[in-house]
Amino acid sequence: MAAALSSTMASAATRTSPRRQIIHFGQFRQRQLATTAAATAGAGGAKTGVLMLNMGGPRTADDVEMFLRRLFEDRDIIKLPFQSWLGPLIAKRRTPSIIEKYNEIGGGSPIYDWTKKQGDLLCRKLDAISPSTGPHKAYIGFRYAAPLTEDTLQQMEADGVKRCVAFSQYPQYSCTTSGSSMSAIAQHFTKNNPTTMEWGFIDRWGTHPGLIRTFADNIRKTLQENFPDESKRKKVVLLFSAHSVPQYVMDRGDTYPSEIGATVQLVMQELGFSHPYRLVWQSKVGPLPWLKPGTEETIKVMVKRGHRNLMLIPIAFVNEHIETLHELDIEYAEELGKECGAEKIARCPTPNDHPAFIDAMADIVSKHLSQGPRVSPQLLMRCPECTNANCAKQKAWIGKITRSGSMPGNEQHQ
Ligand code: FES
Repeated sequence: MAAALSSTMASAATRTSPRRQIIHFGQFRQRQLATTAAATAGAGGAKTGVLMLNMGGPRTADDVEMFLRRLFEDRDIIKLPFQSWLGPLIAKRRTPSIIEKYNEIGGGSPIYDWTKKQGDLLCRKLDAISPSTGPHKAYIGFRYAAPLTEDTLQQMEADGVKRCVAFSQYPQYSCTTSGSSMSAIAQHFTKNNPTTMEWGFIDRWGTHPGLIRTFADNIRKTLQENFPDESKRKKVVLLFSAHSVPQYVMDRGDTYPSEIGATVQLVMQELGFSHPYRLVWQSKVGPLPWLKPGTEETIKVMVKRGHRNLMLIPIAFVNEHIETLHELDIEYAEELGKECGAEKIARCPTPNDHPAFIDAMADIVSKHLSQGPRVSPQLLMRCPECTNANCAKQKAWIGKITRSGSMPGNEQHQ
């Protein structure tokens, strides 16, 4: 959302400096696209399609305005008065400044390349550990950028995929992110021909031990690499940063903050509670109250109090994009760090292609395929104060397509 508003770009070498990442991104992207093309060319006849759901990001400057427009027109993520008129207007106004940010991180979002790589590695692993459900093929369904979820669904049906696992790439669930993607799937099939695929949904996995191990491993390595002096390393404050959301979203009963908190707690447990830490929220926009404390404000206060060595840990993203490469690396670690007198602000990489992370995803999907459930009870129930008709329709459709039955409240479209 708001972070997406500023969103994107990236590189593979996340432990190098942000500036070095920019220099290498073009080359990295070419390599990734070549890999992707090769992997896709030989991937026909899949029995199981794994649909990797995410927000997506503009791959070139020309894609930025349409990306923002789709985002600002999505009432599941943001509600505006006269939205069909105001959404495109805001998108147009923001486009030049967002393009500038993308240019600073290499010219476009790396989220497609990362997701494709993660999906290909995941499916290779699934073919090995779950041959009875193979061959497996990864498909990408983005909400606001190509390949759009609805286009990918058509492709999967045309490819004759027998079973689709809708796999949210947001480990912690929010109705504004994973929920919006699930609604896009439900809307596609209620508007078009019914699906011929068998369906399963993986909607949240923020406490999976493999995900926790990945974060902990990355934190340990980043501490070692950035703070060679042990006496300083021991005093580094860990700031787990997640995308903020407006308070009114939380007031509906969205589970996002508690699920983020659960991930943070388990990561710190894995680290033996080795350092002081806080959960902070980034990317707020507009005048309404959002979740606090903000990442930016926290950095300023910490440094002022004498905590001059900090580490930023993006805890809700599985790959690099504009909120990590621009907001965390350039705006906070580099510019704000200099401005407020920090000695060092390091940034922990996102999971990307960490082997433990790929293993974790494979474990989640293979267990889903062998043991179920096809949908979690949590996905089928609406937030206590939800009045969004899309949510009701989405949950009614998912209940029906997975033969999980109906849950009270899902037929009331208000
Ligand atoms: Fe959460 Fe509708 S806002 S189910």
